[in-house]
Amino acid sequence: MENNSTIVHQGLAGVLVDHTAVSKVMPETNSLTYRGYAVQDLCEHFRFEDVAYLIVNGELPNSEQITEFQEHERSKRGISDELSKILSLLPASAHPMDTLRTGVSVLGCEDSRIWDNTYETNYDKYINLLANIPVLIAYSYRYAKGLDPIAPRNDISMAENFFYMCFGVIPKPEVIKAFDVSLILYAEHSFNCSTFTTRVITSSESDFYSAVCGGIGALKGPLHGGANEYVMHMLKEIDDPTKAEQWMLDALATKKKIMGFGHRVYKSGDSRVPTMTKYANLMAEATGQNKWMEISSILEKVMIEKKNIYPNLDFPAGPAYYMMGFDIEMFTPIFVMARITGWTAHILEQTANNKLIRPLSNYIGANQRSIES
Ligand code: COA
Repeated sequence: MENNSTIVHQGLAGVLVDHTAVSKVMPETNSLTYRGYAVQDLCEHFRFEDVAYLIVNGELPNSEQITEFQEHERSKRGISDELSKILSLLPASAHPMDTLRTGVSVLGCEDSRIWDNTYETNYDKYINLLANIPVLIAYSYRYAKGLDPIAPRNDISMAENFFYMCFGVIPKPEVIKAFDVSLILYAEHSFNCSTFTTRVITSSESDFYSAVCGGIGALKGPLHGGANEYVMHMLKEIDDPTKAEQWMLDALATKKKIMGFGHRVYKSGDSRVPTMTKYANLMAEATGQNKWMEISSILEKVMIEKKNIYPNLDFPAGPAYYMMGFDIEMFTPIFVMARITGWTAHILEQTANNKLIRPLSNYIGANQRSIES
């Protein structure tokens, strides 16, 4: 019998579906750890590459391990001429999340070991995507603007290389640090919608690239990663700090959903927001674009006062990326650059102890009936 209970947990809210050793979200203290380390400490003491190693391998790297990891990642930077051509043929109007999903799919087609789900092979696929998701984003960005792509360099960090491939220059160290911090904060967050999607796909013994394509599809939605783009559209619509309070009151009066606020797990503050806000404020100081953070702090104050709903990571990340010079539609693809680490750790964890994910549903359709002849 398919259905023996009518207790429905819509959205799987509050349901424990599996064990994980990757990260721990603690809403009671608004805190988050990756493999046991507090995320804010990782941001202050490590680079994204160290955290990319930690999340997937379970331990922080020693100097030999990080050198080897970095060399491996740098050696994989660069896509085939065929894939570059495919990207150049996609419509300039396509959203970069869609071109990225297509690019990852092609990387899967090009990998002769696509069906090999051993740990070692999937780890290699991780390094391939860690190295080339930034290349796919930067190439699509430039093709859409009618610009020639800039080939990756293999003598600089992931953050530096990404700016270089997009804009042809490496910005000041404080911008690189703020970007790196955003990648660390976006890297992993337990059984969120896109990570769970990658685990669902992995559970059918499908392949790594298919799981990541599914993750990209889930992350794109405005209730999940897509929110960082909507936050910036909202800030631009308001545009003037003196209009922010009234804008928010009007929006709440019409029951509008305010992007960048609320969270399924955190109900009194997102652990990652203070760190990202600190670096977004530094970007405002560095660029002189103070109004975005001024508008943000008014929106936050009114939202907490009126609804007791707190901002999530997308709220400060959106304006931070804008002040770094990125087009709004690149914000969610940048999230993918970071989240490939968490997705990978979960794909490997699911593969190591797999059970097909197949929940039940409570049928509420028509009773069984005969076909009239
Ligand atoms: N703006 C306005 N009201 C919000 C809100 C928001 N961003 N987030 C939650 N609420 C309200 C809901 O309207 C609901 O009110 P009600 O009980 O009067 O109907 C209540 O808070 C509970 O919200 P709900 O949507 O049921 O919570 P959830 O756990 O299912 O949703 C999110 C979590 C993230 C989907 C939701 O907060 C949201 O849509 N936020 C905006 C998108 C976003 O920033 N996503 C990134 C998440 S990291």
